[in-house]
Amino acid sequence: MRLQKFLARAGAASRRGSEDLMTAGRVSVNGVVVGELGTKVDPNVDEVRVDGVVVRLADGPTYLMLNKPAGYVTTMKDPQGRPTVVDLFPPDAPAGLFPVGRLDQDTEGLLLLTTDGELAHVLMHPRHHVPKRYLATVGGVPDESDMRWLRDGVRLDDGMSAPAEARIVKRSGTAAVVELIIREGRKRQVRRMLSAIDHPVNKLERLAFGAIELGDLPRGASRPLTSDEVAALKDAAGV
Ligand code: URA
Repeated sequence: MRLQKFLARAGAASRRGSEDLMTAGRVSVNGVVVGELGTKVDPNVDEVRVDGVVVRLADGPTYLMLNKPAGYVTTMKDPQGRPTVVDLFPPDAPAGLFPVGRLDQDTEGLLLLTTDGELAHVLMHPRHHVPKRYLATVGGVPDESDMRWLRDGVRLDDGMSAPAEARIVKRSGTAAVVELIIREGRKRQVRRMLSAIDHPVNKLERLAFGAIELGDLPRGASRPLTSDEVAALKDAAGV
């Protein structure tokens, strides 16, 4: 395995950051400083150190976040041949990586990816009510009574929506940006809630899943979750 890939997988830094660590002379293999980017290591045999500290591959589950662009379907395989989120998995993605829940084809933003089937299952279970924060650009500007409907519950074809948090973060003459935090995960729920108050969604982005924030991760990019983020997810799931 290439040394920069080993370092990235072990969580020492991103792939680019790992290359920087190497060229800065901070990485050694079996006691010898290695700055050559093509260097290969055997994770089972070689001892890799960063700043003198041994780095090992964690052999536990993988947890990543992806900033999903519009146009990709959240499925492992699409019979219609559309681009899928799998096309955006990092090249060193482990076998068994899959998305936690789904975002619609046209929805952008935070999608968690993991090999941890048990945690994914628990997180998606409606009982856990993990809050998910969205920014929706809608047609027209909702008034206070529309916002109250969103907060209290609107009638959808599969029943009333549960209480949600809703606020307008921006308004222009003919459009508005609404922040909505929902604790359910019904199909196309945000779009349906906003259509129900006659303010259809033109653009939808998920910014947070529980305590996990998308931050400034570029569209189309992915990164491993930090151990604090994984701990927060496990906490939200009660596992
Ligand atoms: N609600 C939607 O309408 N679409 C999504 O992708 C997620 C939540």
